[in-house]
Parts: sequence; C-alpha cells; structure tokens
Amino acid sequence: MFQHQIKAAASPDWRAFVVAEEWGRFTPADHDTWNRLYCRQVKMLEGKIVSPFMDGLRRLNLQSPGIPKLKELSSRLKLLTEWQLVSVEGIVPDAEFFAMLADRVFPIGNFIRDGEQLDYLEEPDCFHDIFGHVPLLAYQPMARLMEALGHLGVDACAAGQGEAISRLYWHTVEFGLAKERGELRILGAGLASSFGEAEAALHADVPRPRFTIEDAAATAYENDHFQPLYFVSDSLEEATQLLESLTLEKLVALGVG
Ligand SMILES: [Fe+2]
Repeated sequence: MFQHQIKAAASPDWRAFVVAEEWGRFTPADHDTWNRLYCRQVKMLEGKIVSPFMDGLRRLNLQSPGIPKLKELSSRLKLLTEWQLVSVEGIVPDAEFFAMLADRVFPIGNFIRDGEQLDYLEEPDCFHDIFGHVPLLAYQPMARLMEALGHLGVDACAAGQGEAISRLYWHTVEFGLAKERGELRILGAGLASSFGEAEAALHADVPRPRFTIEDAAATAYENDHFQPLYFVSDSLEEATQLLESLTLEKLVALGVG
C-alpha cells in the first residue's frame, strides 16, 4: 500500500487554466501602476536581493516601461532557460500548478492591482508573478529547481503530501531569505514584489531561523498577512541544492501530510 502511494503520479492537465493574454485590455492607468511599482521596488531592492535577480531583470529587458507583453517576455525567457509563461485568471490549484512547473511553464495572473492601493493584493497579480518570479527563472540553478519542485509537487499532491511541499515552496521560493557574501538578502518572490514585507523581512524584529528541509516543512505559513518568521538559506545555491536533493520518500518520512 505504502509503495503504491509513493510511485510517480500522472501529471494533472493544467492547460484548462490557461487563458488568452489580451494585453490590450490593460489601460494607461494599469501601465502607470506597473511603472510605479517597478520603480519603487528596483530602487528599494538594489543591494538587498540575491544578485541573479537583478541580472535577470536586465537579461529579460524588464526595465522597459509598461506591463510586459507576455508572449515576448516568454520568448526571451525560453531562449535563456527553456521556461515559458502563460496567462491565467487567478490562483491555479496546487496539483495543476506543480504540473505546470514540471513542464517549465509559469502562470501569470492576467490583471494588475488597483493603482490607488499599491500595497493591497487579494491574490497574485501580474506584478507579483512577473516581477517577483520571472527574473530568477532566467537563472539556470533556479530554473532547474523550479522544474524539480514541479515534479516532486505532482507526486507529493498525489500521495497526500501536498502540505509539506507547499510549505517548502512558501518558505523559499515565495518568502525565503538567503545569505550572499555574508549578507542577508531577499530570495523569495513574495518579498521581492512587496515593498513593505521586503523591508520587514530584512529589518523587523522577527525570528530568522536557518533554513532546513525538516524545520521549513514543519512550519505552517500565513497567506493573509506578513510572515511571523523568515527562513534563511546559507546561500541561493545551497537552497537549490537542498531542495533538488529532496525525494518523495524523504518528504513522506517528514510526516507532515
Ligand atoms: Fe508567487
């Protein structure tokens, strides 16, 4: 029975969640919102985020004003790391989300937040998804890791271990910190795309435990307010190596469910 549960799962079909990009629907006010968010984040993140992130912004030409056209951005990304971007209407369920990652496809919300409330976000918009995630998808170690998390996530969800893999994803890819040349840096997309929480993660009086698979998997997360703690990896490379070495058997043994 146990052996049956942990065999590789069939990949769920994620294609039903993809919608047409319809870039023309974005108004001048939407593009202005993007530009204000972009300028504010880049200025704040300089020297505070892992270096490959800033390299990715430049390599993908993300500094151009306005909400990027997804097809063009996706083509540039594909040339660099074989990842592609698709438009979605909102949150994709875990099993299909991990199946996308396994195919080197990343979902991008087809909307942007209200420009009157730059810091309010009910669910991930295109600024979070593009600015937060795509620069590191252009970095080979992260590109490999995200695909590996996709494969593991598909199998984990099928084996009833979705919570464990979601926690690990959350505490690294979304809200992780990492050391770089001895300095604390932002790693996660949820922090990279949030003005207030990026500062809080680096400077607020909150616990910053060293990242381990065991501790991160044992730590539940909150998705409606700032995190009560931030895991710190010894380096971005260390985080990717630790997570890439994880197997479903090891995940099951953690006993998180
Ligand atoms: Fe995200």
